[in-house]
Amino acid sequence: MTLDKIIKGKTIVLIGGAGFIGHNLALYLNSKGAKVFIIDGMQVNNLLSLVDNIDNVPHPNLSSALVMERTRLIKNANIELKVQDARNYHAISRLLGEINPQIIVQLAAVSHANRSNKDPYSTFDHSFRTLENTLDWARSSSNLEQFIFFSSSMVYGNFKSDQVDEETRCEPLGIYGALKYGSEKIVIGYNQVFDLPYTIIRPSALYGERCISRRVGQIFIENALFGEEIVMSDNGGEALDFTYINDLVDGITRCISNKNALNQVFNLTYGSACSVADMADIIKNHFPKIKIRSVNRDKLMPQRGTLNVDKARDLIGYNPSWSLSKGYPVYIDWYKKFAKDHPTLFKTK
Ligand SMILES: NC(=O)c1ccc[n+]([C@@H]2O[C@H](COP(=O)([O-])OP(=O)(O)OC[C@H]3O[C@@H](n4cnc5c(N)ncnc54)[C@H](O)[C@@H]3O)[C@@H](O)[C@H]2O)c1
Repeated sequence: MTLDKIIKGKTIVLIGGAGFIGHNLALYLNSKGAKVFIIDGMQVNNLLSLVDNIDNVPHPNLSSALVMERTRLIKNANIELKVQDARNYHAISRLLGEINPQIIVQLAAVSHANRSNKDPYSTFDHSFRTLENTLDWARSSSNLEQFIFFSSSMVYGNFKSDQVDEETRCEPLGIYGALKYGSEKIVIGYNQVFDLPYTIIRPSALYGERCISRRVGQIFIENALFGEEIVMSDNGGEALDFTYINDLVDGITRCISNKNALNQVFNLTYGSACSVADMADIIKNHFPKIKIRSVNRDKLMPQRGTLNVDKARDLIGYNPSWSLSKGYPVYIDWYKKFAKDHPTLFKTK
């Protein structure tokens, strides 16, 4: 059966689906004929956290406008967005019972390593409690075919060689990585005890349209658009497996209802690291006047590199095609157009 036929008509629920990855995934799956539902509390790295700017982002109006753009696209695609905090066990169980999904994709979390280290309590709640609640509903569903959990490359901790694969020993560093690794173990535990079919995804260093997470790719473009300098750690020598959102969305889609993906862990990245300095070179091509400064790196940020994606290539036919030199300019051009269409958002005070 073709990928499109497998996806068409599937009932898929995305918990934390109004975030950066979730809304892009929802739009794609919907375009392929899936019945997509989003459940999201909108209060972590989303619309409600921006009202009082609790994360102290530098341009809250811009971030809000990007989130509004997500919700506009979701609405135009007739995707149902249910605003619900997944920490509420009874409410989330009731909603899942009503939707009765075949596939659950669990994305809800505090998705930032540094914010997680600053606030472990709420990170535990939004990342671990939400997962436990969903798993507990999932274990007794007779309709559920697969539970897809979003982990992270942070489970590996410092890379001891220039690449890691799924067999590499995990030694997470800090709260975010530890919770992700613990979450993976809980998901596997539910499989061992209740036969819950799962797939665990380890993405890394994503970039793409309507991200508000203030990762390096977004910060560079926004600073350039605001005429500010860009700052890199240790002269941009750090290598990351930068991954354009389209590759990840393609990879997840290939996991859905694929028996080769059941009870497996996959790295889903571009599969080849580039340095932050490489990213800065692309920005300089688009904004020749930009100034760049170097600072010391955060010691709690693991040294990373390439995530080997051979397992995903072999088992699910994953074939990432968006190198940084191809994907980043597409994102820059999209952002430039957004700035042109919304000039007031980019005015400095
Ligand atoms: N973006 C990346 O580079 C990256 C890399 C590795 C792993 N991940 C993981 O992928 C997942 C999605 O990441 P993202 O970049 O889309 O993050 P995001 O912050 O944009 O989205 C997370 C969403 O979860 C929702 N959420 C949080 N707590 C909730 C709760 N209690 N109830 C309901 N909804 C809740 C938020 O409102 C938000 O919309 C996260 O688990 C993240 O840790 C992301």
